[in-house]
Amino acid sequence: MTEQWTPASWRTKPAKHMPGDYPDAAALAKAEQTLRAMPPLVFAGEARRLKSLLGDVSEGRAFLLQGGDCAESFKEFAADNIRDTFRLVLQMAVVLTFAGGKPVVKVGRMAGQFAKPRSSATETQGDVTLPSYRGDNINAMEFTPEARRPDPERLLKAYGQSAATLNLVRAFAGGGYADLYNIHRWTLGFVNDSPLGARYAELAEKISESLTFMAAIGVTPESHPNLHQVEFFTAHEALLLGAEEAMTRVDSTSGEWYDTSAHLLWIGERTRQLDGAHVEFFRGVRNPIGVKVGPTLEAEELLRLTEVLNPKNEPGRLTLYGRFGSDKIAGRLPGLMAATKRAGRSVVWAIDPMHGNTLTAANGYKTRPFDRILSEVKSFVEIAKAEGVHPGGVHLEMTGQNVTECVGGARALTEGDLADRYHTHCDPRLNGEQALELAFLVAEKLKEDRVDMNRRAAV
Ligand code: TRP
Ligand code: MN
Repeated sequence: MTEQWTPASWRTKPAKHMPGDYPDAAALAKAEQTLRAMPPLVFAGEARRLKSLLGDVSEGRAFLLQGGDCAESFKEFAADNIRDTFRLVLQMAVVLTFAGGKPVVKVGRMAGQFAKPRSSATETQGDVTLPSYRGDNINAMEFTPEARRPDPERLLKAYGQSAATLNLVRAFAGGGYADLYNIHRWTLGFVNDSPLGARYAELAEKISESLTFMAAIGVTPESHPNLHQVEFFTAHEALLLGAEEAMTRVDSTSGEWYDTSAHLLWIGERTRQLDGAHVEFFRGVRNPIGVKVGPTLEAEELLRLTEVLNPKNEPGRLTLYGRFGSDKIAGRLPGLMAATKRAGRSVVWAIDPMHGNTLTAANGYKTRPFDRILSEVKSFVEIAKAEGVHPGGVHLEMTGQNVTECVGGARALTEGDLADRYHTHCDPRLNGEQALELAFLVAEKLKEDRVDMNRRAAV
């Protein structure tokens, strides 16, 4: 790993889960060339700002909320979908900020989250075998040879969709939509008439009262623009290194390389090999980055990863997303947390309670039981507390839409309900109501933590 890094040096390493079957290599090179000429989606200064906020998280002063689609798709691309996921993040952030008494760093799994690693390179239906669907920026989901053929033009379409998504999200974040005085307006229609809607309305009412009080003493959106806007960041799994390389540019302010396709990029559980292409690419870009940490990772290898990816041990540079499964977390996480702590490695420890809790329902649908998701989050907070580590955040697959993809939750969705509105292009997502419910339950945990700490401080 001491060799010279360039945005292309990953090409000399083994790369897993990247489509090697583009029928026309010249067309792929041309699409990457076109991407190279496209404006950056994010500015390096913004990525540095997120890194600094994540530095606060790593030191226990803030909490990370990251969420969005498992896979964005061309078909679900619509202003309403973007708005609904955005306002769901705002609602959850309000709940978590209020309970935790700490700022919440808001990161959308959006504006670039297209490519998916697949457990099998091919899919068989009846006696037909075709390449697997790998995400809308590579091929299409329909089960035909044409649809499954990787098409480089899709990279450009995904760039366009990401730019448009980011544009709207920036407008919402800074243009008044996220103003705390709008707190009552973010409620999603279908959540409104549920117990969670009532619970949120109650909290929103408390905050509105506080705002009225603060305005009376001179704290207004005019004097404190912070009340009127939020900082919102984007993130995706940087799987498709050719496209990421094309978006990687030298920042003129610092002279350093940034992947300008998103503020934060992460390496998936299946591509985190120390000698692999993804680790090679990531070690050279200066964005804040993440790594998924699953049940097979041993402490020693984790420490090696933190050294290669964050050699200067900078706070905020590296976020670790545990994703073990509710039945495995207690056996795996304590040792890993103890290892990073003992070695003095600066990391954000966060939890992805989605990917270790996927199962196939009797009727063939891939689903996730809400109870297991919740249980893994609770275990995460408890283990972190026992290890003396800050439970830094959650990373969720969720949507503002009223889908039926995960079973359980306040409405007790059953396997029989899954067929009603199962729209995901990859993994099952929490719907708006389930995500909000999870936020309330996490909030309770964080509040216990805060009360405990205050009690200890008072003694
Ligand atoms: N800007 C502050 C923050 O992001 C306060 C804030 C404004 C806020 N609008 C919000 C917090 C919406 C949560 C949700 O924390
Ligand atoms: Mn997923």
